[in-house]
Amino acid sequence: MKGKARSIINILDLSVEELEHLFTLADDIERNPEKYQDRCAHKQLATLFYEPSTRTRLSFESAMLALGGQTLGFAGASSSSASKGESVADTISVMSNYVDIIAMRHPKEGAPVVAAMHTTVPFINAGDGGHFHPTQTLADLLTIRRTKQRLSGLTIGLCGDLKFGRTVHSLIDAMLRYPDNRYILISPEELRLPEYEIDKLHDAGAEFEETRSLEEAIPKLDILYMTRVQKERFFNEEDYVRLKDIYILTPDKLKSAKEDMAILHPLPRVNEISVAVDQDPRAKYFYQTLCGKQMRMALILYLLGLDQ
Ligand code: NCD
Repeated sequence: MKGKARSIINILDLSVEELEHLFTLADDIERNPEKYQDRCAHKQLATLFYEPSTRTRLSFESAMLALGGQTLGFAGASSSSASKGESVADTISVMSNYVDIIAMRHPKEGAPVVAAMHTTVPFINAGDGGHFHPTQTLADLLTIRRTKQRLSGLTIGLCGDLKFGRTVHSLIDAMLRYPDNRYILISPEELRLPEYEIDKLHDAGAEFEETRSLEEAIPKLDILYMTRVQKERFFNEEDYVRLKDIYILTPDKLKSAKEDMAILHPLPRVNEISVAVDQDPRAKYFYQTLCGKQMRMALILYLLGLDQ
């Protein structure tokens, strides 16, 4: 029946208990990959990507392949029937007849809501415009949990494009559910966190501050979450060029950071983290991609009811 399958549009569609279950599953996948290598035999995942992606799409596909399943899909609107004018609703209705589970990325905020209304198989939002990116948040949460051994009582610096960065919005939504986290929002005025996310911080009674200065914020942080300025969401090139290199994390800036601060970035990186930082043991952004694959494996298993 239409609209009856489970859809993950926002990270809040998973309860804290469900997240805990997924972390435990991801840890078991890490320890015993062979236990899971045939779990999704004869199951198929569709990756419908209307917007460019390297990591998220290939991470979903590599997750499904590691579970013994199969994948199909497209990696750009121009190679799908969207270029002929087909609606998301119709594409999802058709794909529901072909596969067991769907992951979709779309440039329009809200497209996953339409998809969720039409899917008859589990559906996962793999990023919608500047809105949400729940599976990146699953990667971020597992990385934080494994590197800091907790998801509460942390001072988290979010730096860069807080306006258009959907991963930032989903991460804040998730971290607000854990107690005693503090937020330092580091951005220029033009790229401030949207009011609707600021309201959530207020409503939750969370401690937060806004600053333009990465240097001032760094010594206070347990987590530094760097982001790319989202070129594709700018209305004019001039603004992008003016803002794109506003923050560049260098080994020099890290001198004042805590020894156990974790540096995260959803990737792709442009200039905002100098490659010299990659050697620093605090750099966790490549490890984060491994966590992302394991969490997507856990989520696929869970949504297909194959986790036990
Ligand atoms: C992010 C995204 O697509 O929002 N990338 C990703 O999925 N790892 C971040 C970005 O594109 O800057």
